[in-house]
Amino acid sequence: MKEQTETHVIKKFPAGFYWGAATASYQVEGNIFNTDWAKAAEEGRVPVAGKACDHYNRFREDFDIAKSLGHNAHRFSIEWARIEPEEGKFDEKEIEHYREVLLALKERNITPFITLWHFTLPFWFSERGGFEQKDSPEIFARYCAYVAEKLGDLCCDFATMNEPNVYGSNGWLRGSWPPFKRFTLTDLVSITNSGRTYESKASKGLRPFFLYRRVMKNLARAHNRAYEEIKKKHDACSVSVVKHVILFHANWNPINKIIAYIANHFWTHTFMRRVYKNCDSIGLNYYFHKKFGDRAVYEKTDMDWDIYPEGMHAALMMLWKYKKPLFVSEAGLADAADKYRADYITRQVRATYKAITDGADVRGHMYWSLLDNYEWALGYEKRFGLVEINYETLERTVRPSAHIYQKICENNGIE
Ligand code: BGC
Repeated sequence: MKEQTETHVIKKFPAGFYWGAATASYQVEGNIFNTDWAKAAEEGRVPVAGKACDHYNRFREDFDIAKSLGHNAHRFSIEWARIEPEEGKFDEKEIEHYREVLLALKERNITPFITLWHFTLPFWFSERGGFEQKDSPEIFARYCAYVAEKLGDLCCDFATMNEPNVYGSNGWLRGSWPPFKRFTLTDLVSITNSGRTYESKASKGLRPFFLYRRVMKNLARAHNRAYEEIKKKHDACSVSVVKHVILFHANWNPINKIIAYIANHFWTHTFMRRVYKNCDSIGLNYYFHKKFGDRAVYEKTDMDWDIYPEGMHAALMMLWKYKKPLFVSEAGLADAADKYRADYITRQVRATYKAITDGADVRGHMYWSLLDNYEWALGYEKRFGLVEINYETLERTVRPSAHIYQKICENNGIE
């Protein structure tokens, strides 16, 4: 794998390695009005997404930029609410749109990786109870099968869902995302004391915890059913799940080590054990770590997350336990000044390389994100892009760090 050059040692990645960046429909496309998030924005509970980066109309220009930056792969998501705006009614025009997106990637020799669902739900589906409902896996699988049937000739990599644990915990434990249900022990006390029923506190208290567990089970069932249905349409395509891993680790203290072990079990392995048999590969989204007993002081991203890209290695090794091909499906940082990004990317790529030399079958690396975008409940302030967006004029400006990543992509390796 290592190749000597005159002056440097290049750590070469396996031939055919996928290098690129990721986006998600609701965060970049613009003008999506029929989702739970759009409804929440109308009610003033989350920022309005509006026209976003207008990627829906400017995808060709954006892919030209990706191409110029040496990318040979691109991960993006399909907006369920565009494809199935009413229950059971599919919109051929929107399928045509995504076919054009795929053709534009093909013309540029960029391999597509589709995520079928990245957080936002069609409004009709969230209104009828979303993933709390028993039949939600069937409804989800029907949508996935439809898309795979229509797009499977242009794409052979489908991730069913993005970060189920983040979706579930923000929606049902923290209550910061739709459907805004919050698990609080304080309310448990008041409920117990006053003898009130849980139902009277539908969006706070103990009940969201049980709903969270139900949602997580339904998401796993949804993935498994979607896997079967997609395979019926296109047996040869690869179906994966995109898993957010928080790296929980510890200092020397055995008690801290046990805490870290339990935390990893709950955050990563509970879900993975339910789905890994129905994964042809696994996507890893890595952003942060928590080291119990750690006194080190870290530099911070604009999200106030520790700068610790080295954690990528342990996060990959954690998923390698399932012995499926791995992709870094997202990793990156919010850094409006572009002060840390180049160094961060370099270090996270080195950590990825280390995982490969330690035996993990890693096949691709997608930086998050190609473009600045709508950072969910935080709106447009946080800047993750290799490409800066001026939200007034929609002008695109490539950040200097994007060229450091470009060098890595073009060399298929790193010093
Ligand atoms: C999500 C993205 C998000 C990014 C940065 C990931 O958890 O998949 O949608 O923008 O993290 O917070």
